[in-house]
Amino acid sequence: MDLLQEIIERAKATKQRIVLPEGTEERTLRAADRLLADQIANIILIGNPDEINKSAAEYGLSHMNKATIIDPVNHPKKESYTELLLLLRQKKGMTPEKAAALVENPLYLACLMIKAGDADGEIAGAQNTTGDVLRPALQLIKTTAGMSSVSGAYLMFTQNKNYGENGLLVFADCAVIPNPTVAELAEIAVATARTTRAIAHVEPRVAMLSFSTKGSASHEMIDKVTEATRLAKAMAPDVKIDGELQADAALVPSIGAKKAPGSEIAGKANVLVFPTLEAGNIAYKLVERLGNADAVGPILQGMAAPVNDLSRGCSPDDIYKMVAITANQAIAIKENERKRT
Ligand code: ACO
Repeated sequence: MDLLQEIIERAKATKQRIVLPEGTEERTLRAADRLLADQIANIILIGNPDEINKSAAEYGLSHMNKATIIDPVNHPKKESYTELLLLLRQKKGMTPEKAAALVENPLYLACLMIKAGDADGEIAGAQNTTGDVLRPALQLIKTTAGMSSVSGAYLMFTQNKNYGENGLLVFADCAVIPNPTVAELAEIAVATARTTRAIAHVEPRVAMLSFSTKGSASHEMIDKVTEATRLAKAMAPDVKIDGELQADAALVPSIGAKKAPGSEIAGKANVLVFPTLEAGNIAYKLVERLGNADAVGPILQGMAAPVNDLSRGCSPDDIYKMVAITANQAIAIKENERKRT
């Protein structure tokens, strides 16, 4: 079974509650219908019920009766979510008036549902920008224990089975932190290792990328990567991490052996951590377009509950896959919580 099918099967086994705040959007509705037909998750759609039902009939969707529909302007929990929003953001200047307006915003409402324990994860971004999807999640759901930053990883299913894990590589950060500090870069490495375990179910081998391998050049940007490598190793002694490495030294065994002899990562990396968002975002798009890789993500990591962002050019199939991935993240978070208590 391929990895995506395994992810789908794991989601199906526990049927997490996934909220889709762009509930009136066509691709979202088409994906929701398939997810409900295949019983991958319990789907919660936010939007005007009449509009959703009319569109569902127009598109010939026959499983929408299994979805929970929440009308953002009129639902039984509106008052309690408004109070929760006020409580969570009072110190940041939230007023009752602002909270009463914001609670009707589907992107805030979805996060409030998760925070209140009424949903396990969220996907949006077919209509809204990354910033608009992320801001409520960063403000309300916040980071998981031991993490202070949220970043975004991609599963890169490449054509060359000699690299990574039989062609699979995990890239980060490709979506969130433009210019990470040393501490943030270390957290990106640790969070991506955890995502690799939770979603790909493989043991991560993390390369901290730069334009230098083991001191072959010197620059303050390289120092940042070596410092972050040291910090990441201290944060997660159970994860194999090495840096700084150039991309070829990280991936190609013969080059790794020459440029970084003795490294347990060089030539074997399956996780690539980029020094900036520019590098990560450009790299994943180049590998996707020029290398014909299948890029799945961004998978947001480091958050206390899973919220994922879609590209505005996404297809119903992309939404379907991201719901399954979000469900897997929710399962992993719950398992970790169980282990901690
Ligand atoms: N991790 C954790 N918390 C964060 C992070 C982060 N990476 N970034 C911001 N926050 C928190 C802040 O601490 C703040 O919390 P508070 O209000 O409780 O104090 C809250 O989020 C809002 O912070 P701002 O800095 O005001 O948020 P802003 O909206 O300006 O920026 C954002 C956050 C949207 C994530 C911004 O960093 C951003 O736009 N990043 C780039 C996203 C992007 O465009 N990516 C590329 C496209 S996506 C793609 O191609 C896959």
